[in-house]
Amino acid sequence: MQKNIEEVLMRGLLTLRTLSSPEIMDIIELAIRFKKGWSINFPGKKMVNLFYENSTRTQYSFQMAMINLGITPLSFNLASSSVQKGETLYDTVRTFEALGVDGIVIRHTKDVYYNDLKTIKVPIFNGGDGTSDHPTQTLLDLMTIYEEFGAFEGLRVALVGDISHSRVAHGNAEVMKRLGMKVFVSGPEQFSDKTGEYIPLDEAVEKMDIINLLRVQFERHEQAMNITKEEYHRRYGLTSERVARMKKNAIIMHPAPINRGIEIASEVAECEKSRIYKQMENGVYIRMAVLTMALEGKL
Ligand code: NCD
Repeated sequence: MQKNIEEVLMRGLLTLRTLSSPEIMDIIELAIRFKKGWSINFPGKKMVNLFYENSTRTQYSFQMAMINLGITPLSFNLASSSVQKGETLYDTVRTFEALGVDGIVIRHTKDVYYNDLKTIKVPIFNGGDGTSDHPTQTLLDLMTIYEEFGAFEGLRVALVGDISHSRVAHGNAEVMKRLGMKVFVSGPEQFSDKTGEYIPLDEAVEKMDIINLLRVQFERHEQAMNITKEEYHRRYGLTSERVARMKKNAIIMHPAPINRGIEIASEVAECEKSRIYKQMENGVYIRMAVLTMALEGKL
């Protein structure tokens, strides 16, 4: 795919939308090599995690990936930083560049926040921007699917739940379609958008290869959910009864954190079809691959 000049100038991984399918596969293949035990070290390198939104998995798996690669992670505490004095994202990032870090991981509430950072030369890794994109989550989801099915072409996935507020749904759908997967959406009307063809959940559980659940993102709701949590669970939640109707080889994914008893029944989270903890494990290898490729000048 032709990249425009600005994207070429910015290094790291901001979105998968500008990467071709073979480039995406290269990252997944490298992550699989790491998982099989291959290793590389970057002594003396330092990186920082700038998280303007809460995070457990993304933040600490980037940190784990850095440590596994011999990169020293700097901890950034939003609450005690000069962001509280009104410092802009650009000025904060420019500061860490001046301090000499070799990479900056950023999660921010603003969609495509990186458009404000076009003159920054140090690689930037997007840990999630607003409701747009979450490229390393998409990669770890794809790695999990690839390990399970060995290919993407023709697989059917339903993204289920709070689609409109989910950067995971939006980022995943774009790449999954490009890789030849058939992408459906399901869940309440209040949270639906044009991300994929709509399918009722009771039909989805019987037809899909992958049920990709999404968290109900209460913190992003401009208007309160128009049904109770119990009602949500009954109508749109993945219950044991629905799991029992899934295809034999079908799997359940969720980026987590999970709302047990809302979008997923507690016992389903760790059932035999669930790949939720495998996704987390794969996230470390994907982030090792992305950091390595950037330090080698390939991203
Ligand atoms: C997701 C996120 O923050 O976009 N979580 C994650 O990174 N694993 C999804 C979510 O918060 O619901």
